[in-house]
Amino acid sequence: MSEGGLLGVAIGARRVCLTRQGDAVTALDDRCPHAEFSLSAGELLADGSVECAWHGARFDRATGAVLQGPACDPVPVYDVLLLDGDVHVRLDP
Ligand code: FES
Repeated sequence: MSEGGLLGVAIGARRVCLTRQGDAVTALDDRCPHAEFSLSAGELLADGSVECAWHGARFDRATGAVLQGPACDPVPVYDVLLLDGDVHVRLDP
C-alpha cells in the first residue's frame, strides 16, 4: 500500500478499506454509509480524512466519524496490528 493511499481488500466476505499515512495504518469498512459506494475508490486527504468519490462525504480515518455529509452515520473501524511488515485486521471485537 502506498503512502497516503487507500487500498480495498477482501477479508472473507467483507471488504475493508486500508489507509496509510506514514507508518500509521487504519482499517475501515469499505462501504460508505450514505449509498454503499466503495470508500477505497475515494481519496485519503492530507488532513487524514477519507473522502467518498461518489457524493463527497468525508470520514475520520481513525474513528470513522462523519466529518462532512451527505453521510449521517459513521463508518465501522477495525483494529489493526502491524507485525513483521504484514497488516493484520481484527474484524470482530
Ligand atoms: S455514497 Fe458515499 S457520499 Fe454518497
